[in-house]
Amino acid sequence: MKYDPIDNTLFKTNRKNFMAQMKPSSLAVFNSNDVFKTGADSTMPFKQHRDIFYLSGADQEDTILILFPDCPDPAHREVLFVTETNDHIAVWEGEKLTKEKATEVTGIETVYWLKEFDKKFFEMMTQAETIYFNTNEHYRQAVEMQTREDRFILKTKAQYPAHNYAKSAPIMQRLRAVKHPLEIELMQTACDITNAGFRRVLEFMKPGVMEYEIEAEYLHEFFRRRSDGFAYTPIIASGNNANVLHYVQNNQECKDGDLVLMDVGSTYANYAADMSRTIPVNGTFTKRQKEVYKAVNNVKKAATKMLTPGTLWKEYHKEVGNIMTSELLALGLLDKADVQNEDKDWPAYKKYFMHGTSHHIGLDTHDYGLLWEPMQAGNVFTVEPGIYIPNEGIGIRLEDDVVIQEKGSPKNLMGDIPIEIEEIEELMNK
Ligand code: GLY
Ligand code: MN
Ligand code: MN
Repeated sequence: MKYDPIDNTLFKTNRKNFMAQMKPSSLAVFNSNDVFKTGADSTMPFKQHRDIFYLSGADQEDTILILFPDCPDPAHREVLFVTETNDHIAVWEGEKLTKEKATEVTGIETVYWLKEFDKKFFEMMTQAETIYFNTNEHYRQAVEMQTREDRFILKTKAQYPAHNYAKSAPIMQRLRAVKHPLEIELMQTACDITNAGFRRVLEFMKPGVMEYEIEAEYLHEFFRRRSDGFAYTPIIASGNNANVLHYVQNNQECKDGDLVLMDVGSTYANYAADMSRTIPVNGTFTKRQKEVYKAVNNVKKAATKMLTPGTLWKEYHKEVGNIMTSELLALGLLDKADVQNEDKDWPAYKKYFMHGTSHHIGLDTHDYGLLWEPMQAGNVFTVEPGIYIPNEGIGIRLEDDVVIQEKGSPKNLMGDIPIEIEEIEELMNK
């Protein structure tokens, strides 16, 4: 891990909050992610499952966490299993969690080697009535392959058919949606690193550079600031590539007179930043580019103000749609008849702005959160309106990450990242 140690108060608090929601005489199990093979003996870089990380801070493969608040043996109320390390492993793979180090990182006193799991788990299961399984209930999830968690669930159901089963997902969704101040600090760091990358690119950008060269500039700045890299596959889309919403090829030349839409965020300590900026390749916006840019920025500002406690997700998106409609009318992209005759299920503005305005962000770029419950302080959202006009070769999206406050407007974690036209032009032409 490149990141600095995290105050384990965060993980202790998260476990306490989770356990407070559990049924009597129940235990919950959280598995780490698999390490994915690429062929031969190579693997992809390990990414920890966000839930076990959230509850323990353990950032290592082959790790299991059990929470059992009513366990008759106090030593088994929080238990972490890690792979046994030894001098040989230390020489070949470097430092792994020892039992002492695992306790230091997680604040969990009882740490066992993974090889003891079946025996300890059997003992704990005989003392429990209910087991919480950590199924994936994210609204965008796509179940296409069996995870380590899935395999654990199948095996456990076969071995312990007389237990009651419960779901961790609703508890995790609720908890992870409201960020602890220590999480906000980590997210701020991810945003600050992203800011440094963007400022580097403002200096680097000129006609003739390749999209992948820009990608490399970001990564250089991210790595040297203790980031683990990109929070998601970056989009560096010049000219009309910006009108392909999930363009990730990043292999074209940036041409004089075009814009470049960059949807890029760093990850720090597993927390994501999600930024979009659109800048002119030659450092100066044309009149038309400015008009469209200002419209997007207006919508973004108005949308951000609406992110306050009590706001409902659906209403918010509807209202942002209304504001976007006014801007598109002013730009001459829609006329009154388009709006009067619009299909309420696919309003006219969707022709130019076809994606959502916001999503929760945190450990996952598209984070957990309960979309049918009113927003509350501590929720962190992106705000990311865009206008896409393929006929004109213009695609503009602006995206910041903001934290809902008890009162007033949200706090913008990307408030220091240049966004106004004048500032961008000045930085690019200095
Ligand atoms: N970069 C992914 C998103 O904006 O949702
Ligand atoms: Mn984005
Ligand atoms: Mn986003």
